[in-house]
Amino acid sequence: MIIPKPRSLTPAAGTHRLDATTTVDGPAELVAPLRRLLGPGTGLALERSEAATLRVVHEPALPAEHHVVEITPEQVTLTCADPAAAVWATQTLRQLLPPEALSAGATRTEWELPCLRVEDGPRFGWRGVMIDVVRHFMPLRDLYALVEQLSLHKYNVLHLHLTDDQGWRFECRSHPRLHTVGGTRPESMVGPDGPTDGTPHGGWYTQDQLRSLVAFAAERGITVVPEIEFAGHVEAALTAYPELAVPGHAVDRVRSAPGISDYVISTDDASLAFVLDVFTEVLEVFPSTFVHVGGDEAPRTQWLASPESAALAEQRGLPDAGHLQRWFTEQLRDWLAERGRRLVGWDEICDEGPLPGAVAMAWRGPEKGVAAARAGLDVVMAPVTATYFDYYPSELPEERRCIFGLTTTEQAYAFDPLADLDADSAARVLGTQCQLWTEYVPDLRRAEYLLWPRACAHAEVAWSDPAGRSFEEFGQRLAAHVARLDALGINHRPEAGPLPHQQGGTGIWQRGPSAPPAEEPLALAEPGV
Ligand code: ACM
Repeated sequence: MIIPKPRSLTPAAGTHRLDATTTVDGPAELVAPLRRLLGPGTGLALERSEAATLRVVHEPALPAEHHVVEITPEQVTLTCADPAAAVWATQTLRQLLPPEALSAGATRTEWELPCLRVEDGPRFGWRGVMIDVVRHFMPLRDLYALVEQLSLHKYNVLHLHLTDDQGWRFECRSHPRLHTVGGTRPESMVGPDGPTDGTPHGGWYTQDQLRSLVAFAAERGITVVPEIEFAGHVEAALTAYPELAVPGHAVDRVRSAPGISDYVISTDDASLAFVLDVFTEVLEVFPSTFVHVGGDEAPRTQWLASPESAALAEQRGLPDAGHLQRWFTEQLRDWLAERGRRLVGWDEICDEGPLPGAVAMAWRGPEKGVAAARAGLDVVMAPVTATYFDYYPSELPEERRCIFGLTTTEQAYAFDPLADLDADSAARVLGTQCQLWTEYVPDLRRAEYLLWPRACAHAEVAWSDPAGRSFEEFGQRLAAHVARLDALGINHRPEAGPLPHQQGGTGIWQRGPSAPPAEEPLALAEPGV
């Protein structure tokens, strides 16, 4: 009944009643997630009292994030390793309640939980979802909504892709043109074959907004990992500060077209200092140990054709200017390490050989992750073949209006991040992550449609042991889980039955009326939290 599937679930006879008299007890940092996440949907105040029937117990002997949920007619006990475990135990309780107890505004305050014992803990410590907020800017309130959705599925990493050719979304106080100029592009492509819409698109998050997002996510068990892309995918930054470019390759407007750009930063000493200014601010906003520096799809063309880059490579003792990116990434790795952080990069960071100390995010294929793990690097498995949910979810002509290829829910479910790895290398796999690039994802409704239920399947890949589970059995649990997504108003893809437009919806992507348009994209109000 629960997604992702727990390690063990033992049903017992009877039910436990929650009502207005229910009180809670336990260590403050473990009770807080319970009250915060269970209170709004159930309408229960969940006051503290020593005679509580809902108890949270700290058990430091349990591995990180592990927990036990024990429900008897008299008592509910959540035994938790740490605050994250208390979040996950509470999410399990929420899924055991009727779907209407999930979303705020319940009209009743009496609920029944089935008696049982769940022993649970994750297969992987990195269970991520990457959201590209560049190709389409996502209003802050939509990110809050996604954080809630991810936490329900026991995801613990929100990887925010904050900068790219098509925009810069991080307020940078030392170099403000990055967001004030690089934050807006003249137009967008409306589909893989065009045309462009002729409408400026922009937005950025202030540092204070991002700090509050980080805090909101942390309360829900989620670490926000920022990604600031260098040395490629930098046309927005080059538009703002042309002096960062390889000489002769200035850019005069933020890129509208998707795809791989030839533009890269020069990597000279001044551009390195500039980039470190940016990361200094990034570290002030994001406490995450892991900091993603991009590193994918940086063609060597401009460096190799540039006499200045050749001279720079020679001065640095590199074989040729094609190695400037590697040199640059090593500087970032060392700079981050001096500050107690770890560099994460897309798997291209290992194209000149494994980059010791870095975390490789294997996107081009699992074999990239296998090679990095065998070379002793920590790895996050994020291959296009199974974890890119901007790919289309079916071959139906309407749904194929997406990027590139097909990834069905079944394909997402079948992915094993540890395939082809011996035990030593498998220990290097921190976990797995799904990706939502947003070239053709203009709003939260489309994002939800592409994520769910594929991200339900991926959540189970990330959390649950493969032994004892199957796509067929997952499908039975998913049928019940869909009622939860519906109760939360999440615009998931129907896994069975007619597509949205065949149900009288407003288009292929959506069953209900359109979400209200995002107001004032450049000046976001703080959501009430
Ligand atoms: C990527 O999809 N270029 C990481």
